[in-house]
Amino acid sequence: MIRKARQQDVRFIHGLLARYGQEGLLLARPLTELYELLRDFVVAEDDQGRLVGTCALHLCWEDLCEVRSLAVLPELKGQGWGQRLVEACCSEAVTLGFGKVFALTYVPEFFARFGFERVDKSRLPNKIWADCLSCVKFPDCDEIAMLLEL
Ligand SMILES: CC(C)(COP(=O)(O)OP(=O)(O)OC[C@H]1O[C@@H](n2cnc3c(N)ncnc32)[C@H](O)[C@@H]1OP(=O)(O)O)[C@@H](O)C(=O)NCCC(=O)NCCS
Repeated sequence: MIRKARQQDVRFIHGLLARYGQEGLLLARPLTELYELLRDFVVAEDDQGRLVGTCALHLCWEDLCEVRSLAVLPELKGQGWGQRLVEACCSEAVTLGFGKVFALTYVPEFFARFGFERVDKSRLPNKIWADCLSCVKFPDCDEIAMLLEL
């Protein structure tokens, strides 16, 4: 199942993001930030109650939010968890009244499966670049911006 994250999940989320962060696939986040942003996160839990993945919906601007920090345990990829995590975040965006969600990613083909379309990063409002300033890749970011109209 997919459920909202709880504070007891933060160590798992931290470890998983750190693992893929080292590979340069996403932005790892420090524990302090994860506790502060915990309400952004959902986690995937299997039938035995084990955590298998995570994703965050970050509210950015009028009518715009971001799906980010998407990660599934390497040994459990390909079982539909990534799809369910993205769908849960998009569903929350709709519930909150948002009309657009974007992702900055190295796996555009994955997001395209759910209707996301490639857009020029310059179409995204300046406010979203606040996060980028603290990113190790700034200013040479080669992530691809994908946008979904909900
Ligand atoms: C990207 C990621 C979250 C996908 O999770 P997953 O659980 O393996 O994905 P799913 O099993 O839900 O896949 C759903 C569909 O997308 C496809 N898919 C999965 N990864 C894909 C990729 N990298 N590129 C294209 N399609 C992909 C699957 O084949 C599946 O298609 P199907 O329904 O026809 O079988 C996972 O590979 C991951 O954690 N990667 C490392 C971290 C990362 O890159 N995160 C994204 C940061 S934006």
